[in-house]
Amino acid sequence: MGGLRKLIRSTAFRLAAFYLLIFGVSSAGLLGLVYWRSAGFTAQQIDETIAAELQGLNERYRLLGIPGLRQVVAERSAKQSQSLYMLLNPEERPLAGNINGWPKTGVMPGGWMDFEYDLAVAGQTERRRARARKIDIAGGFRLLVGRDVQQRDELVSLIQSAFWWAGGGILAFGLVGGLLVTRSTLRRIDAMGAASQQIMAGDLSRRVPVNGSGDELDRLAASLNAMLDRIENLMTAVRQVSNNIAHDLRTPLNRLRARAEVTLMSEAEPEAYREALERTLQDADALLGTFNALLDIARLEGAADAGPSDIIDLSDIVADVTELYEPVAEDAGITLLAEAEPGAAMVIGDKRLLAQALANLIDNAIKYTPTGGAVRVGAITAGGHAELSIADNGPGVPEAERARIFDRFVRLEADRGKPGAGLGLSLVRAVAQMHNADITAADAAPGLRVTLRLPSAA
Ligand SMILES: Nc1ncnc2c1ncn2[C@@H]1O[C@H](COP(=O)(O)OP(=O)(O)O)[C@@H](O)[C@H]1O
Ligand SMILES: [Mg+2]
Repeated sequence: MGGLRKLIRSTAFRLAAFYLLIFGVSSAGLLGLVYWRSAGFTAQQIDETIAAELQGLNERYRLLGIPGLRQVVAERSAKQSQSLYMLLNPEERPLAGNINGWPKTGVMPGGWMDFEYDLAVAGQTERRRARARKIDIAGGFRLLVGRDVQQRDELVSLIQSAFWWAGGGILAFGLVGGLLVTRSTLRRIDAMGAASQQIMAGDLSRRVPVNGSGDELDRLAASLNAMLDRIENLMTAVRQVSNNIAHDLRTPLNRLRARAEVTLMSEAEPEAYREALERTLQDADALLGTFNALLDIARLEGAADAGPSDIIDLSDIVADVTELYEPVAEDAGITLLAEAEPGAAMVIGDKRLLAQALANLIDNAIKYTPTGGAVRVGAITAGGHAELSIADNGPGVPEAERARIFDRFVRLEADRGKPGAGLGLSLVRAVAQMHNADITAADAAPGLRVTLRLPSAA
């Protein structure tokens, strides 16, 4: 019973009921009009002709008296027609007419009578309905003029029964149709509700059912599913990042704590305490650096629309950053080559962030390339894009890992011993995204080539 209540209270059913009402009222109006134009109109016409004929016969009586009237009534009665006549003398005996006896019914105001009479057809008598009007003539004579209305009455009852059948049919079909349509809609909405309940209960892989009909509910379900996909991806990413953060920050914190503990236990000289504190400070700075880098990345990734707007020459950035890293490269025994003509690659962007990204890439190239290697930094414009590329001839990155190195905290196994937190390339990617740039890592045979393709401003 609860299901039916729910069905009736649904929007779909109310709509169906509303249409049913509108349709019902207009059908009733149409049938009413047909009824009034046919049956009602004929009834009025019949009454008018009867009244006119009676009027005519009354004139005749005034001119010619009872004999004249009797003659006309007899003449007209002899004609084959739907008209009915009867003239009675004061003794209630028929003088002329074509019905067998004065009707035994009550007389309505105006002398009108509705009655049944016997009509002889093909040797048989048939009871038929009639309508007539009578007048009293001076001296006790009475005159009746009427019409056979059997046919009209049959038409009326035909229309009436059509009315009831049509009404019942409309109501039945409307109700059943409305309930069926409503039930299927309701079932689909219930399925959506059930799916969202399960998703809320924790089953993030559940999806809203789509039946492929392409109707509005289906499109709604498809959008909901797309939204759920996106939410699921984001949740997974967030979970991974927090896992990584927890993992990667625990090691340095543990080290810091262990050192403090050991120093405290070993009743050392004040000099040793000072040294331990200094190293603790360095470790704390490194941790703070990691947190700042994480915050920078998050801020850049979140600031999609607060985009940069200066026109900058990438070759300027290349010159500045390579100059900055020249001493580092020299210390590591690496040749650092800047290969960018002034004005060769113009872009719209944030100079400070692009320089930071290039610095991270050069830092990697120098850090992961063995002594004696070379790093080339170039900027060109090709096919409507400004390309900034950094290539080294070190060990490179295996193809399977090339997409992954841009994720937070990802460091290749072989490089765990080197300083770094695995966030440098994540910042580079965040800066790239902010500049609508593509970033790719490729094989420089040997070595790694990272290329940033930015929309050219030339
Ligand atoms: N030029 C390169 N050659 C070889 N491996 C690289 C190079 N650049 C990056 N990688 C690998 O990608 C990882 C991620 O780089 P990055 O995000 O800068 O972190 P970090 O430098 O702090 O380790 C590095 O740990 C290293 O394993
Ligand atoms: Mg790095």
